[in-house]
Amino acid sequence: MLAVQGVLSGRMRRKSNGGTCAVEPRSGELFADGFWDRPLDEVDALRAQSKVHRSTLTSGVRVWVITGYADAKRALTDPSLRKDARTIHAIIDRQQTQPDPMAQVAGILDTHMLFLDGLDHSRVRRIVGMEFTRARVEALRPRIEARTTSILDALPVDGPVDLVSAVACPLMLAVICDLLGIPANDRELFNEWTQAVMVQDGARTVRATQALNSYLSTLIDHKRFTPDDDLLSVLIHPRATSDRLSTEELLGTVFLLLTGFQTSANLITTAVFQLLSHPGSWNRLREAPWFLPTAVEEILRFDSPMRTTTHRYTTEPVEYGGQPIPAGELVVVWLHAVNRDPDVVRCPDAATLNLERSPNSHLSFGHGAHYCFGAPLSRVAAAVVLRRMTRRYPEARLVDVVARHAPNAIMNGLLALPLVLGPDVARPREADL
Ligand code: HEM
Repeated sequence: MLAVQGVLSGRMRRKSNGGTCAVEPRSGELFADGFWDRPLDEVDALRAQSKVHRSTLTSGVRVWVITGYADAKRALTDPSLRKDARTIHAIIDRQQTQPDPMAQVAGILDTHMLFLDGLDHSRVRRIVGMEFTRARVEALRPRIEARTTSILDALPVDGPVDLVSAVACPLMLAVICDLLGIPANDRELFNEWTQAVMVQDGARTVRATQALNSYLSTLIDHKRFTPDDDLLSVLIHPRATSDRLSTEELLGTVFLLLTGFQTSANLITTAVFQLLSHPGSWNRLREAPWFLPTAVEEILRFDSPMRTTTHRYTTEPVEYGGQPIPAGELVVVWLHAVNRDPDVVRCPDAATLNLERSPNSHLSFGHGAHYCFGAPLSRVAAAVVLRRMTRRYPEARLVDVVARHAPNAIMNGLLALPLVLGPDVARPREADL
């Protein structure tokens, strides 16, 4: 989530690290030494200590972190926890010791439903929801399949391939461009800006956000008069309601939808990593593709593409996990911790990857009013890639068994995932997939 980063990690002091945003850890707290080498073990240990934690990031921003499943579900539907962007920024600003360069584009990045409450939120969500439907996602499926096939066709089978830069990111950027109706000639620039916006890297991100904002304003003007069938056109001219999004709301919505590129790319990458690091899983999916949807849910649960939800703030004193939290404090849910909470009903082996787990009540797409809009799209894209890759490359293997996590407080992505694919056995029969 782009604006989420803007608020959660982006509004904190940053240092550039391999093109990703790094929130500097304060020793002994959430991101203590060694955290990024074994983030899942670390959150399991954190939750075992307590279901609610007070954490201070090195920027000085203090948040309450919920690590228990039952508390998380309650928090994500609690009317005392709200999301209004201005209040969240005001709370963070009170804690900041340095001016934040991203503040000048916060208004662009945060004017959308994820930072609205109550009726304002439900109005925007309703308009977007009437057009961003499951049917629209299903209509995109053949293009997702065709794009995946052509990306895989171009990969070398003998040398190492970086799944992040060669498959997951280009595929998901293309899918989001298809969804929004970004003209083919503009895609290279669009991709460049989008990647720069995502890294949350001070001046570079500010410039890219402004350039993208100006490009999208022009595109919206163009589509007002020459609409097509893409999501942006139908959001400009909703068919199912007379209510309209303002230009600012449209722009904010597009910026929010763009963030789906990164989370979905993360899902593809962590899925391949987890399958190849759990012996037998890759071939199991190859031989029994009908349980792919169940396997995708389990990977979402086990290694969620987002580490935490976005910020909420308390409007009155509340209590979580026996811990009183005063009014005016920031709260986040640590999704990795709550998904692996063994106290969840019927999830006693929560720290184990079980590709056939059902039911699977993970919170990786959130819960309650702000439940993720992009869940169906991400599930389709992940299933398409996994089906094709397991089918085509039975001997695929990791070059390095240790995952190199991007040190980002909210996004759970890998900096790179080098693979040797081995022989491509299915290319001639691709049409059968
Ligand atoms: C695997 C991929 C994805 C994951 C794990 C994910 C996760 C999430 C989560 C956890 C939230 C709730 C945040 C909170 O309550 O603080 C959320 C909200 C949202 N997501 Fe996603 N997301 C993914 C992909 C996408 C995609 C592809 C799109 C769109 C193209 C998208 C659009 C949205 C929107 C619009 C919201 C805000 C809903 C609201 O505020 O009512 N997401 N997502």
